[in-house]
Parts: sequence; structure tokens; C-alpha cells
Amino acid sequence: TLSPAPSTCSLETFTHHYGDVYEHSPWVAEAAWKEGLNSAHDAPDALADLMGLMLQQATPEQQIAVIQAHPDLAGKAAISGELTQDSTREQAGAGLDQCTPEEFARFEQLNAAYKEKFGFPFVIAVKGLDRHAILYAFEKRLNNDLAEERKTAIEQIIRIARFRLNGRAEQQLL
Ligand code: GUN
Repeated sequence: TLSPAPSTCSLETFTHHYGDVYEHSPWVAEAAWKEGLNSAHDAPDALADLMGLMLQQATPEQQIAVIQAHPDLAGKAAISGELTQDSTREQAGAGLDQCTPEEFARFEQLNAAYKEKFGFPFVIAVKGLDRHAILYAFEKRLNNDLAEERKTAIEQIIRIARFRLNGRAEQQLL
């Protein structure tokens, strides 16, 4: 289970500890707290479900703002070490910090083409994927339309948040 136990937290304490589960978007945690947390939400998957519901129920504009809060994959911020701790770990976990110059160039091209088409960055839950699988998914998703891609990006962001919460609960067992 998570520590501090979400169900025991004030709004301020909860937001302090869980506000960063959604990248630069603490309002998702605040909305979950306001729904009323009980001891079931001390389990990472139950909290992930509720926080994910808050994002699914948000307006398209709020959803797009959360997507836009994500850094590029293998982008300049990643190369210069400007990411959040979670993003740094996720991107390195997929080996994105080990791209060849050609692969970095390919990410740069795809990041630019994707943002040009959709107006927000490409987001994918990278856990379990290597950079080849990520590049393959990237090229496929570029063919989607805007509505499909907003829905896919939000689903992926909800997966990322679930991985983050489960990762924190596991770390607390060590
Ligand atoms: N998927 C997991 N972490 C990240 C990230 O930092 N940026 C993007 N774009 N996708 C991700």
C-alpha cells in the first residue's frame, strides 16, 4: 500500500505527495481527493483508477493541457537533464538515453511532425518497451486523427500514472 496512506491525508498533504503522479498537473490529485478517499484508495491500483477517472471526466481542454505538460521523448529536455525524476527514470528505462545520433535525429523529426499535426507532444507509456518498439508505435500513431490521438494519449497517460503509483508502493516495501 501507499505511504503516506492517501485516505489519511489532508488535501494539502495528499497533493504534496501525489500531485506529481500526473506530470505538472496536480489538479488531477486534488480532484481525486475531493471525491472522498477511503482506505480502499491506499492500494495503488484503486487510487490509479480514481485519478484516471478524474482525467477521463475532464474537459477536452483540460485533457489537452495535461498532454501538453509532457516533455518530448528523447528530446532536448531529456538530453540536457531537465525532466522530472519520474520522466527521467521512464525514458532511461526504455533506453532512450542510449539512442544513436541517427535515432535521436529520428525522434526529433517524429516529435516535430507529431506536434505539427496534433498540437501536443507524443506520449506513450514506455514501461516494457524498447526504443525500436517506441519508434514503431510513434510512426503508426502519426496516422491517427486528432480525436483518436487525444483519446490514445489520455489512455497512455493514465497507464503512466498507474505505473508511477505501483512503483512507489513497491519501493515502500523495500
Ligand atoms: N511516457 C513516459 N514518460 C514519458 C515522458 O516523459 N514523455 C513522453 N512524451 N511520454 C512519456
